[in-house]
Amino acid sequence: MLQARKKAPIVIAIDGTSASGKSTNSKLVAKALNFVHVDTGAMYRTLAWHCLRQNIDVQNVKAVSAACRRWKTSLECADGSAYLAVDGYYPASEIRTAEVSAAVSHVAAVAKVREWMKKTQRDCIKFGSLVMEGRDIGTNVFPETDFKYYQLEERSRRRAADGIEENLAARDQRDSQRAAAPLMVALGARVINNSQMTSEQTSSMILADIRERLAELEKIAGNRQKTGMA
Ligand code: DC
Repeated sequence: MLQARKKAPIVIAIDGTSASGKSTNSKLVAKALNFVHVDTGAMYRTLAWHCLRQNIDVQNVKAVSAACRRWKTSLECADGSAYLAVDGYYPASEIRTAEVSAAVSHVAAVAKVREWMKKTQRDCIKFGSLVMEGRDIGTNVFPETDFKYYQLEERSRRRAADGIEENLAARDQRDSQRAAAPLMVALGARVINNSQMTSEQTSSMILADIRERLAELEKIAGNRQKTGMA
């Protein structure tokens, strides 16, 4: 009798600029597939919040690297989302302040921080299949995944957000020009121009593509098994 194989967890990588709508879409995709949603931007924000709280200069690379080496975190998963808790506490609202938004891309440019984040984000696989959103998921965190999407900015939302809380263009520029894992389109990523689409339309389009690819991969795996190549 053929033994049923345990399916390996799948990672859906959704990258893009700030205010591209990827957060809403990735949550919808995760919910539809019953996968765990991971907001990696929230993890960088959590470190920025921690540094500000500890009076660490976020532009001091050595000090930020040391803070990242020393902070006491745990990777948690609740209500279908994975997140980082610091000393047992998840600062859900604190990481969304203008102060944290202004500090976060400095912290995210530090090579040691990115190394730490990559390892921690890869560890999320222990929770099962993932929809992970960020800037470098397809290029750096899970480059091996077959499911890569890059969302272009949603212009109207972006205009509305720009200049109110922060200068998003300046943050995106820092994120795209840093030396360590800059924001860019991953090789093989499907680029989605969602500026004229609702979140429901965008997430449906991503879901249809994922299902098509999953069916293709299953077909390939089935053929391999038949020919004894598996
Ligand atoms: O998605 P967000 O705006 O909450 O992200 C906050 C910051 O974190 C953003 O300026 C870029 C950075 N970031 C990153 O460098 N790499 C990621 N994978 C996710 C976010």
